[in-house]
Amino acid sequence: MRIAIIPGDGIGKDVTAEAVKVLRAVGDVFGREIVLEALPWGADYYLATGITIPADGYAMLRNQFDAIFIGALGDPRVTDNRHARDILLGTRFELDLYVNHRPVTLLHERLCPLKGQTPADVNFVVFRENTEGSYAGIGGRFKAGTEDEVAIQEEINTYKGVHRIVRHAFEYARAHHRTRVCMADKSNAMAQGHALWQRVFHEVRTHYPDIEARHLYIDALALLMVQSPSQFDVIVTNNLFGDIITDLGAALQGGLGLAASANLHPGRTSMFEPVHGSAPALAGRNVANPMGAILSVALMLEYLGLENEAAAVEHAVQEAVASGQGTKEIGGSLGTRETGDCILEIVRGRAKDTKGNREHKGD
Ligand code: IPM
Ligand code: MN
Repeated sequence: MRIAIIPGDGIGKDVTAEAVKVLRAVGDVFGREIVLEALPWGADYYLATGITIPADGYAMLRNQFDAIFIGALGDPRVTDNRHARDILLGTRFELDLYVNHRPVTLLHERLCPLKGQTPADVNFVVFRENTEGSYAGIGGRFKAGTEDEVAIQEEINTYKGVHRIVRHAFEYARAHHRTRVCMADKSNAMAQGHALWQRVFHEVRTHYPDIEARHLYIDALALLMVQSPSQFDVIVTNNLFGDIITDLGAALQGGLGLAASANLHPGRTSMFEPVHGSAPALAGRNVANPMGAILSVALMLEYLGLENEAAAVEHAVQEAVASGQGTKEIGGSLGTRETGDCILEIVRGRAKDTKGNREHKGD
């Protein structure tokens, strides 16, 4: 199994180092050959070479790897964020990774900023459309920089694009024993583009009579996510709304440091990344929380069909959180590296326990 590792910028490098440690430990413990290849793409590389991603970069990612892991991208020295657009958004678009899968899972009630919410209440999955919408880059600036400037940024909604993400949400619900799918749009104001979301949603839901289908306007959804998150199970929405509500979702779980994501095209090489940004001010200080990155590794292992391995990583993070271990912003006293070590020790320890039990039974 070959995995491309793009640590990227800022704390992306810090958390990726821990994600890599855990991935290697998983390989050892479960006897899997996991080959990791680090790619230097990021702000430093761009500033040194003028290259954001090499001409054959996307093809290489698609053809030479089983999965891609990205730390985070963004650097104050690259003010137009060009490298992040090319590397992150470029990979989403060029590899047609149309599903942005972002679980919102509260690991411990003390982490939730809302009163009285338990892990059973905050446990849903957001599917964000990942290849079109407001991110399509269609538009332009007329008379830029003058008082007459006109700036246009179009939102693209295609039948194919909306259909495949809505369908994915229902399929996921069915396969994972989730019973409710909520589609959020703004069809009351964006009566053209979002009429398509309405049409597709009504069409697709009829194929899933076993699943409760509900529609909410995105503003109402934002309100209800805070007021009573337990009503949500699976949410599907467009690219921009999905971006916004998954930061809100991250807050419900205890912060951006804990949020994981998968950018998928089922059956093809896909990309995995924590939801957080590069946080330049925190970079290299051993303070960033690597758990979102490590949970993204778990999503990657699951996608690659290594379910036991994925579960081991996820449980290890859960156990670390349950026992109060972790970085400061979630109430722990560990640094980035120590948090990574703690999680990988749990992965190794559990594997030893399981082996011990097996050997014992075999006596
Ligand atoms: C995310 C990020 C990106 C996005 C940025 C860095 C372009 O916020 O992955 O959520 O908007 O998709
Ligand atoms: Mn975002």
